[in-house]
Amino acid sequence: MIKNCSAAVSLPGGLVLRQARPADLDQIGALLSARGEPDDAVDHRLVVTDPDAGLSACAVVVDGDRVVSTATLLDEEVHIGGIRLPAGQVELVATESEYEGRGLVRALMNWAHERSAASGHLVQAMIGIPYFYRLFGYEYAIDVPQVLKVNSLPPAGGRSTLRAARPSDIGAMAALQAAAQSGFDVTMPHSAACWRWLLDHESSNLLVLDHDGTVIATARTTPPGGETLLAEAEAAARDEAAARDLLSGSAALAPGDPIRIAHRAGTVTGNAWQEFLDHEPRRTAERYYLRIPDVAALLDALRPLFWQRLTAAGIDRTADEELFQALFPPLTADVLSYYLPYQ
Ligand SMILES: CC(C)(COP(=O)(O)OP(=O)(O)OC[C@H]1O[C@@H](n2cnc3c(N)ncnc32)[C@H](O)[C@@H]1OP(=O)(O)O)[C@@H](O)C(=O)NCCC(=O)NCCS
Repeated sequence: MIKNCSAAVSLPGGLVLRQARPADLDQIGALLSARGEPDDAVDHRLVVTDPDAGLSACAVVVDGDRVVSTATLLDEEVHIGGIRLPAGQVELVATESEYEGRGLVRALMNWAHERSAASGHLVQAMIGIPYFYRLFGYEYAIDVPQVLKVNSLPPAGGRSTLRAARPSDIGAMAALQAAAQSGFDVTMPHSAACWRWLLDHESSNLLVLDHDGTVIATARTTPPGGETLLAEAEAAARDEAAARDLLSGSAALAPGDPIRIAHRAGTVTGNAWQEFLDHEPRRTAERYYLRIPDVAALLDALRPLFWQRLTAAGIDRTADEELFQALFPPLTADVLSYYLPYQ
């Protein structure tokens, strides 16, 4: 039976968990900005006013008319071996300081997971406070690309122009990302809605390299200038020449600033930028969280992939260890998330 996730839930102390309403929006924005980043209010409004998400994607805990805690569930898709798994991502989580430690986020995570299950999601992926989300069934599963310093720069490019992305670039950017992700076993692309939010949010610094009207590379940067280190992430390029022009063009946005890049090993940009990077050893193991709410449902959805793996390995079913290795080999993965997992 599908649970009714829109029903209000009474919590101890007279608090109530319910779906967000239009009248809550200002309070939710103020709460998110106060507890997180100033821009979180803008992000939240983009999400809940988008036709693909809407207000029902967000829940609040209220004390009377006061919003004291909130969380939002986004729809995503995780791809593995040609299979598309409906997925959820919890974002924009915050509790008012004086209401912390009362289990409000635990209650909101329950709401999000029930809504996720009712939407047919087979996994949930997220980035968030280290350790915290392990309390709610998440495990560290997918490496975040290592952020490396750029030591030297390729010479400034030829006729290409690096410019802010426009809505009409979404198709080209999505195609470049699909090509970049084609070499990974498990991927999460940006949803169509996420592309819109990235473009609507002016500080997202979504860039494209334009060559005679054709988008040949793309990346996201942290805002350049000031003390901020320019960091470039989610880079994708048509070929290595475009990747080099992307790097030199990005450097020109903040002349003299140190640059770091999120190294997507094995992709066109990852390969083209090798010689310009300081390959320092990884000191922290940052990862995206994954949660598998129902292992049997997930395995069931992956049947065609298991069959493919078994037939490719040509293994006798009695050889247990070999069978396990054939069915569950180590996998590479690449995730695109609305929030970059780097500061
Ligand atoms: C982190 C935050 C969301 C927790 O909200 P909360 O309503 O106090 O959380 P809960 O009371 O539901 O806590 C649930 C569990 O997490 C634990 N917990 C709370 N904050 C934690 C933290 N920062 N790190 C680790 N565990 C934490 C609690 O002890 C509790 O454990 P238990 O259920 O086993 O007793 C809240 O403190 C907050 O808004 N912080 C600032 C904004 C932020 O960091 N948002 C998260 C973005 S990913």
